[in-house]
Amino acid sequence: MIWKERIDRSNLPTHVAIIMDGNGRWAQERGYNRIYGHQHGVDSVREATEAAAELGIKYLTLYAFSTENWNRPSEEVEALMELLVDTIEKETPTLNKNNVRLRAIGDLARLPRMTKEKFERCMEETSGNTGLNLVLAISYSSRWEITAAVRQIAAEVLSGSLSPEQINEQVVAEHLNTKDIPDPDLLIRTSGEQRISNFLLWQMAYSELFFTDVNWPDFRKEQFYNAIYSYQHRERRYGKTSEQITRFHR
Ligand code: IPE
Ligand code: IPE
Ligand code: MG
Repeated sequence: MIWKERIDRSNLPTHVAIIMDGNGRWAQERGYNRIYGHQHGVDSVREATEAAAELGIKYLTLYAFSTENWNRPSEEVEALMELLVDTIEKETPTLNKNNVRLRAIGDLARLPRMTKEKFERCMEETSGNTGLNLVLAISYSSRWEITAAVRQIAAEVLSGSLSPEQINEQVVAEHLNTKDIPDPDLLIRTSGEQRISNFLLWQMAYSELFFTDVNWPDFRKEQFYNAIYSYQHRERRYGKTSEQITRFHR
């Protein structure tokens, strides 16, 4: 099945988020250590980014490292941080060539100094690009993000710049890392796991979910197109009835 040709270009998701999972299992199935899987996962990041940019999708968020991933063996954490630095450094010219802007969500203050600096430099160097926004979630978890937002809102109330009555959904959303990023329309998770793992909990209230058994290092453009095609055949009702949604299209 050639999924790309079946995609309706007038009904693309604005924001696709991906939980890139299964690197470790992919490597272990082949008799290698987990880090080998992470290294191969970089090719899939390139594929997903290219596929999104080619289709004209505006936001692609990739879950690269969670708050909970800090609890992994230190060799694996160090290898992942190194891989991040190397990849960002190597890929910056390509991002610029393809008009891709790199952004980040997460607790960047926890990153090793080198990783954080390289990251900030790449974000700076691509900040003028107007095509795809590639958002990396690094040292990110949704509960961390929401907790930080609550703390900040509480401080504003205490200082008198905000009253409790003024706190509404928009105020909460504006205190999240994603304040200038629309909510994901589509979430893809690879490797057969069907869970959210502390990713964008607030923002995914009405995202469509797509799960695939493919491990992340095997993820290619075809799988991305397949997910978009599936998304385009869902009816997003946002709590309304089907009749209310389709009334204007008949
Ligand atoms: C996803 O693959 C990458 C990260 C979480 C950094 P995993 O490393 O979780 O691979 P599995 O799920 O153990 O196979
Ligand atoms: C989620 O994958 C985090 C990332 C993909 C970065 P995990 O492999 O850490 O999630 P769990 O532990 O299986 O839920
Ligand atoms: Mg995993």
